[in-house]
Amino acid sequence: MKALILSGGKGTRLRPLTYTGAKQLVPVANKPILWYGIESLVAAGITDIGIIVSPETGPEIEAKTGKGDRFGANITYIPQASPDGLAHAVKIARPFLGDSPFVMYLGDNLIQDSLNDFVADFKKKPLGAIIMLKQVANPTAFGVAQIAADGSVTRLVEKPKDPPSNLALVGVYLFAPEIHQAIAQIQPSARGELEITDAIQQLIATHQTVEAKELSGWWLDTGKKDDLLEANRIILDEYITHPNILGDVDERSKISGRVVIGKGSRLTNCTVRGPVIIGENCVLDNCFVGSYTSIANGVSMSDIEIDHSVVLAGATISGIHRRIVDSLIGERAKLTVTEHRPKALRFMVGDDSSIELA
Ligand code: DAU
Repeated sequence: MKALILSGGKGTRLRPLTYTGAKQLVPVANKPILWYGIESLVAAGITDIGIIVSPETGPEIEAKTGKGDRFGANITYIPQASPDGLAHAVKIARPFLGDSPFVMYLGDNLIQDSLNDFVADFKKKPLGAIIMLKQVANPTAFGVAQIAADGSVTRLVEKPKDPPSNLALVGVYLFAPEIHQAIAQIQPSARGELEITDAIQQLIATHQTVEAKELSGWWLDTGKKDDLLEANRIILDEYITHPNILGDVDERSKISGRVVIGKGSRLTNCTVRGPVIIGENCVLDNCFVGSYTSIANGVSMSDIEIDHSVVLAGATISGIHRRIVDSLIGERAKLTVTEHRPKALRFMVGDDSSIELA
C-alpha cells in the first residue's frame, strides 16, 4: 500500500502567512501540520509516500521535510503545475502510484483516529474505496455524503448549497487502483477542478463498493486561523503529557502544568501556565504565557501577556499592555511599543492581514 499526501494548492484562507510559505508547514504545537499526517501513515506501516506540491511552495516543503529518513519513510515529491483539483493530483501521481492501492491524505487535515484499522479493513475486503465522515455544523464548507438506511453511500456532493446531510467528507481516503478509471471518466466541476467527490461518485455508479466510516475522534481542517488555533489547543492537550524544561528559567519565574521549553531558551520573571510549548533559543522577559500557546524557535518577548495563540519563528513582541489572545503571529513579525504611554498606533501590515482591537 502506498500513500499520496496533497500539499499543493494556494492556501488562500490562511493569507497572509501563505504568501510566503506553504499552509501545510504552518506549525501546530511547533510541528508542521503535514508531519502529523506522515507520522500517522508510517505508524500504519505505509512508508512509500508521494507528496503533491505546487511550484511556489514545493521547494520549501521538500527542504524542510526531506527524503523521509526522519520519519522512517521514503518520500517522492510530485509537482502539480496548478491546483486543478484533488482528482487531478491523483491523475498526475499515476506514475508513482502504479496499480497499488493507496491512502490519500490532505496535507492540511489532522485526524485523531489511527489509520491502522482502516488499512487492515481495506486489505481484507474487495472495496473500491473507504471514505471517512464526521458530523459538522457547517456542511456547506465541505464535501457531503448521503447515506442509505443500510449504511451504503448513495451520493457525494462538493460544497453543496443545500446539503443532503451534516456528514462531511474528511480529507483521508483509501482507494483501490480502479479510482484511476473513475477519474478518467469525470469532467472538471463548475469551479474548474477535477473533484475527488465526482470520482468517488463514479465508483459508486460503476458498482464498486464504497464504505463510509464515521470517525469517533476529532478531525481538524487547519485551513483557517480559528481552525488552526483549535488544532493547536487539541494537539497541545494530547501530545504534551508532562513538563520538559530544557532551557534556563530563573528563580522568579513560575512554571505550572505541562510546559515544554526548548534548549537555549531563557525565561526571566515569567509566568507560564501549561499546556504550552516554547521552542529553542527564545528569550522571554517579564511575560505571562497562558494555556494553549505555542511559541516557535527564536522568538523574543518582553513585558507582554499572551494566551491561546500561536507565534511563529523569529517573531518579536514587546510592551503591549493588553493581553494578546486568539492570535496567530507570523514569522519574524514585530509587535512593539516604543513609548511608555503610546498615543498613536503605527502599523506596517502585510496584504490580507487582520488586526482586531477587541
Ligand atoms: O478538508 C476536507 C475537505 O477537503 C473535503 O470535505 C472536501 O470534499 C475536499 O474537496 C477538500 O476541500 P477543501 O476546499 O478544504 O480543499 P483544499 O482546496 O483546501 O485542498 C485540500 C488539500 O489538497 C490542501 O492541502 C491543498 C491540496 N491540493 C488542493 C488542490 C485543489 C492540492 O495538492 N492540489 C489541488 O489541486
